[in-house]
Amino acid sequence: MSEKILVIGANGQIGTELVNTLRNIHGAENVIASDINSPTYAIRNSGPFEFANVLDKDNLHHLFDKHRPTQVYLLAAILSAVGEQKPKVAWDLNMTGLIHILDFAVEFKTAKVFWPSSIAVFGPHSPKFNTPQYCVMDPNTVYGFSKLAGERWCEYYYAKHGLDVRSIRYPGLIGWRASPGGGTTDYAVHIFHEAIKNGKYESFLTADTALPMMYMDDAIRATISLMDAPAKNLSIRSSYNLAGISFTPAQLADEIKKHLPEFEISYSGNDPRQPIADSWPKSIDDSQAQHDWGWQLEFDLPKMTFDMLDNLKKTI
Ligand code: SER
Repeated sequence: MSEKILVIGANGQIGTELVNTLRNIHGAENVIASDINSPTYAIRNSGPFEFANVLDKDNLHHLFDKHRPTQVYLLAAILSAVGEQKPKVAWDLNMTGLIHILDFAVEFKTAKVFWPSSIAVFGPHSPKFNTPQYCVMDPNTVYGFSKLAGERWCEYYYAKHGLDVRSIRYPGLIGWRASPGGGTTDYAVHIFHEAIKNGKYESFLTADTALPMMYMDDAIRATISLMDAPAKNLSIRSSYNLAGISFTPAQLADEIKKHLPEFEISYSGNDPRQPIADSWPKSIDDSQAQHDWGWQLEFDLPKMTFDMLDNLKKTI
């Protein structure tokens, strides 16, 4: 049976890349991109597109009824930094949106649902290094606790309704095709753009702020391999830890300097995103993903830096 895949939040940082990959795998006509905003040229011209607001239940119901998706990817969310400016809006979108999708997936017997979680589910009392799958979790951002509550809902729908929900706790994501939208890890994308355009970058995080990050190619590959894994192999229905690569702004700047020797980094200090970054893990243990669905990282810091610069130079 061919898949019918609905991607909600298709215009975002993950969606832009995921829609492209899914269309290559399943055929463009079988991957319906949807977003609250007008699509990018690439998405609009490569396959079907529907407007969708995850808070508009009637329209969502209509979309499920019309397309009867076999897989749904719910990517619409407000990230950590913007979430702190609009806490109630972030909670409503991230939580109510998820519950709408879970309910319609049960009603329309959607075979599989993907929903992204984040390193933001961890908090100040979580272990900072090699953070395990199970530990103290006391996130102190609205984004973080909306993701943690969302994980509990996913596991609950799996247990109570048999809904095949799958999820990854993404590290900060770095890609060249789309910009990030209001997160704490955004510096690690902006730095590449500024390095190429202006030869310098002012980081809003301090030089020694280590965070787990991941190149988008690895993130998309992880997402699709989790969705392709046999259900019986999956022992986690909340969300899988994924380690990626951990580095600081200073380490990333040093790596960029190997390609652009004139590049200079400075640090602004006093940014509201600093305490958010300080509350998150510095490195992650993803042994469960390796064990359950054979996860292996491909892009380390040098390989990612080379690929980002190589591709961005052609597009900027
Ligand atoms: N990249 C996200 C953020 O910074 C974390 O999931 O908000």
